[in-house]
Amino acid sequence: MKIDGKPYRTIWPLGDDTVGIIDQTRLPHAFVTLELKTLDDAAHAIRAMIVRGAPLIGATAAYGIALAMREDASDAALDRAHDLLAETRPTAINLRWALKRMCDALRNRPREERARLAWEEAARIADGDVAVCRSIGEHGFKILQEAAARKNGAALNVLTHCNAGWLACVDWGTALAPIYMAHDAGIPIHVWVDETRPRNQGASLTAFELGSHGVRHTIIADNAGGHYMQAGQVDLCIVGTDRVTANGDVANKIGTYLKALAAHDNQVPFYVALPSSTIDWTLSSGRDIPIEERSADELLKMTGRLPGGGLATVEIAAPGSGAANPGFDVTPARLVTGFITERGTCAASAAGLRSLFPVETPENGIQRS
Ligand code: MRU
Repeated sequence: MKIDGKPYRTIWPLGDDTVGIIDQTRLPHAFVTLELKTLDDAAHAIRAMIVRGAPLIGATAAYGIALAMREDASDAALDRAHDLLAETRPTAINLRWALKRMCDALRNRPREERARLAWEEAARIADGDVAVCRSIGEHGFKILQEAAARKNGAALNVLTHCNAGWLACVDWGTALAPIYMAHDAGIPIHVWVDETRPRNQGASLTAFELGSHGVRHTIIADNAGGHYMQAGQVDLCIVGTDRVTANGDVANKIGTYLKALAAHDNQVPFYVALPSSTIDWTLSSGRDIPIEERSADELLKMTGRLPGGGLATVEIAAPGSGAANPGFDVTPARLVTGFITERGTCAASAAGLRSLFPVETPENGIQRS
């Protein structure tokens, strides 16, 4: 996607020993790029959420392995790099999927070839994500087109939660890809952007993305979505996901479940867009998904821009109070109208997933074997 007319991806190789990324902790106030030169740089970028979003976490981990292989291509170094990256964030399965793909591509190959092979495999993972997200966009576009046709020229109102746009992937995004395509095709569209407390990925990242692309949008408090649904002002919801289990349960940013409940109560279609690398075939239910518990400071403090331009972090809670901060929740499959994947759309169920992915392969998720 473009920033000030210049095309960007969220991660890109610079020569054959450095990786460029966008520092997402600085958005929306500053657009700053950074360089990753070592395995530790990559692990830190994921842990500190300088990069975030399930597919981008996977692509960054892949490049983390590639950077590690430039230093030391031994089996022990590969294991160390794998283990260090695997523990950076627990919920997004794309991290484990990308690490497995890298290890599978390198494990039985000669040491002297591993650095080159790792660089090539990481690039394939990143390029693959772009192609997959473009396909998700095309399939989701048809849903938006049909919904827009029922609006007799009025704008289609879509609600999204967190950030599942190009900043969360390598390009295009998952939930936002259909929206960009609908906008580019001239379909009048307006997006309700959940602010997504506590880290505000909606207000800071989704709003930044949509604004940069010229898509009309309005930031709303996380608690406002149900109200707009009751008022008939949400035509459909689309969100991304960090992990979908074999039965169709969906882990996504905390608050997604409440939006799905409100959508169900108001007969608002609720779609989940995902690349197949987000499917965890090893888990039969969302109950088993590990939920990341994040720092209480994310709730108790807030960072923003001062009138003079500088950033400041301020305390916003009663002094001495603690806070609990689960980063994700699980939406049961029964509340999801459908999945939008790179292979098309399907029911949010074991049978639905199987209709699109009859055979588990290393490309389409974490396999059982
Ligand atoms: O904690 P984050 O910012 O990494 O969480 C991101 C989300 O929850 C996204 O909605 C999800 O990764 C889907 S990204 C296409």
